[in-house]
Amino acid sequence: AAVVVLVSGAGTNLQALIDASTDPAYGARVVAVGADREGIEGLARAERAGIPTFAVKLKDFESREEWDAALAGAVAAYDPDIVVLAGFMKLVGTTFLGLYGGKVVNTHPALSPSFPGMHGPAEALAYGVKVTGATLFVVDPGVDTGPIIAQATVPVADDDTVETLHERIKGAERTMLVASVGRMARDGFVVEGRRVRMGGLGP
Ligand code: GRF
Repeated sequence: AAVVVLVSGAGTNLQALIDASTDPAYGARVVAVGADREGIEGLARAERAGIPTFAVKLKDFESREEWDAALAGAVAAYDPDIVVLAGFMKLVGTTFLGLYGGKVVNTHPALSPSFPGMHGPAEALAYGVKVTGATLFVVDPGVDTGPIIAQATVPVADDDTVETLHERIKGAERTMLVASVGRMARDGFVVEGRRVRMGGLGP
């Protein structure tokens, strides 16, 4: 299965997918990496792996809708089976979801439905939860609200900072992402209401 990954930052989740893809048995192959900005480590990781990259920046467009359509067009050039948002810090819009809805997945560093949005690790720490984690979900128009594909838990330590907690979450997040994307690529998946079932495409 062809996978396009969108990133906005360090790209450690992307790197985990690139590393997994070196084994043909994995079933998923990262065919392109896109971003909403330039000069980030995520794009550099793709370049080092010889994977084509593109950047579609909001400030180059008159409106969010035009940006969204341009992003959808850039992704469409690679005809992906799955689009993975891996630390992509913008919401995709109606054109994008019109083209790829049901095939776009995102990782969130909290256990949905707790702590949606940009500050999952900080909010989990501030709330005082003892367990948090990461959620892989099928993107819908909301903020981290889509049907859940997989979740991974991590404990919160008494002496955690936002950084140490987020690093622990990211470890679990990468493992979950690699395992789930591989399964989805090999077996397919179907969304039935809020439930995501693996293996929906096979005989
Ligand atoms: C991940 O924790 C992701 O869930 C969050 O930002 C982080 C991105 O990390 N939205 P990386 O760029 O994959 O290293």
